[in-house]
Amino acid sequence: MSMLGIRNLGKTYSGPDGPVRALDGLSMQVSAGEFVAVQGPSGCGKTTLLLTAGGLLDPDDGDVAIDGTNPYGLSPEKRACFRAAEIGFVFQQFHLIPYLNVIDNVLAPSLALPSRDALERTMELIERFGMTGRAHHVPSELSTGERQRVALARALLNRPRMLLADEPTGNLDSVNSQTVLGSLAEFAAEGGVVLLVTHDVETAGAAGRIVQMDSGKLLDDVKAVREPPLPPTAG
Ligand SMILES: Nc1ncnc2c1ncn2[C@@H]1O[C@H](COP(=O)(O)OP(=O)(O)OP(=O)(O)O)[C@@H](O)[C@H]1O
Ligand SMILES: [Mg+2]
Repeated sequence: MSMLGIRNLGKTYSGPDGPVRALDGLSMQVSAGEFVAVQGPSGCGKTTLLLTAGGLLDPDDGDVAIDGTNPYGLSPEKRACFRAAEIGFVFQQFHLIPYLNVIDNVLAPSLALPSRDALERTMELIERFGMTGRAHHVPSELSTGERQRVALARALLNRPRMLLADEPTGNLDSVNSQTVLGSLAEFAAEGGVVLLVTHDVETAGAAGRIVQMDSGKLLDDVKAVREPPLPPTAG
């Protein structure tokens, strides 16, 4: 069974110039152990896809199943607990808590899901991402790339089964990009699901499977509609 199953997702935002169709009948299945990149241009709906896939934004149409559970079928409280246990998010804008230092930002998800080794794991993750020397600084004192690494450490704290990463290397130099992409690959190799969205072809290349997206659709799906399958060949 797939860890992440998305079927026919549709999402329309209302904007000042009329409705914006951000997701337009998008379907995909991701199995445990897979590292999938969705690559597409700015505005094609990548962030909207991650938010809906992760139980943060209820789609207008279609279904999301995470390990068989529809997050939108849960009460808001249960959905929050489910997300804290199952999903790590790396947001495009990081969403770090401005008045907490690096340690407390990484530790924050343990408030939703307490664990005995949370502080030890926090320090391990901070070290893994080369942030030990900055551990007592608040986000405004960090470079953008450092903030991004803190966001990834935070996403990993609760040992989620699925990582959703929105342009996780968008602000990193090549050494730090390799660290982050290597961590995502390792997470998948250990049986997790990684869904990364990016406009960058090179970043997408780090994934085991690459899916192109445009105008709220996966291009694979568009192709499947345009080109009917070949008839079976005789013999
Ligand atoms: N809250 C919102 N209200 C209205 N329109 C929105 C909202 N959020 C996104 N949109 C629009 O929906 C479309 C998809 O947005 P989304 O943020 O998912 O794209 P994206 O692929 O992540 O882009 P980028 O690569 O620039 O981050 C865009 O046209 C965007 O302007
Ligand atoms: Mg985006």
